[in-house]
Amino acid sequence: MKATPLNEDIYKYIVNLVARDEEATLEIMQAHANQMGVPPIMISPEQARFVGFFLRAIKAKRVLDIGTLFGFSAAIMSQAVGVDGEVVTLEFEPVHAQSARKNFKTLGLENISLLQGPALDHMKSMPDNYFDFIMIDADKKNYLAYLEDALRLVRNGGIIAGDNAMAFGFVADQTITHMNPDYENIQSIREFNARFVAEKRMFSSFVTIGDGMLLGVVSK
Ligand SMILES: C[S@@+](CC[C@H](N)C(=O)[O-])C[C@H]1O[C@@H](n2cnc3c(N)ncnc32)[C@H](O)[C@@H]1O
Repeated sequence: MKATPLNEDIYKYIVNLVARDEEATLEIMQAHANQMGVPPIMISPEQARFVGFFLRAIKAKRVLDIGTLFGFSAAIMSQAVGVDGEVVTLEFEPVHAQSARKNFKTLGLENISLLQGPALDHMKSMPDNYFDFIMIDADKKNYLAYLEDALRLVRNGGIIAGDNAMAFGFVADQTITHMNPDYENIQSIREFNARFVAEKRMFSSFVTIGDGMLLGVVSK
C-alpha cells in the first residue's frame, strides 16, 4: 500500500492531536523573532514533536543543532534532553542569535550553549564521538561538509538527521532549472541525500514529516 497523502485537514488534525505544546512554544518564540525580522523557516510543530519524541526514545543527553534561527529546534531539544543534558546550537547571523538568546531566557532554558559564527569553524574544534544526536539544518551549500564533520562528532550508535530532505517539495521535480531561485539549494540537497544514504557507516531512513528528514544511525 502507498503512503496516505497528507492534506490540509489531516495536517491540522495531527498538529491538534499531538503537537499543541510545540505550537504554543513556537508562538511565544516567533512573536519575538518577528519583531526582529527573523524569517519563519523553522521546523514544523509536528516535526518538533517527533524530534522531542525521538531524543527521549534514544535517551539523548548531548545534542548538536546546526542552524539555530530563533531557537525553536534547540528549545525542543533542550526540553527533551532535560536539565542534566546539553544542547549546542550554531548560528551565523548575529540577529538570529540575539533573538534565540532572548527566547532561551524567556523560556528559562539553561542547558543550551549558542555559538555564533560559521558552524564549520566551531565544529572543527569539537571533540570526536561527543554527541548522541546531530541535526543539520543550516545553509544547504555546506550540507555535505556538515555531514563529514557530523560523522566525526557523533558517537558510535548516535544519530545524524538532515532536515529539508524534500528540498521544499522540489526534490523529485525534474523540471526545475536555474530559473528557480532555490535551484542551487535543491541541487545541494539532492547531492546530500545521495551521499547520506550511500554512507557505509550509517543505516538510513527517510521520514516524511515537515519538509522531510533523513535519519542515519551511525556504526563506527
Ligand atoms: C532553517 S534555519 C534553522 C531552523 C532551526 N533549526 C529551527 O528549526 O528552529 C537555518 C539557520 O542557519 C543559519 N546559517 C546559515 N548559514 C550558516 C552557517 N554557515 N553557520 C551557522 N549558521 C548558519 C541561518 O542564519 C538560519 O538561521
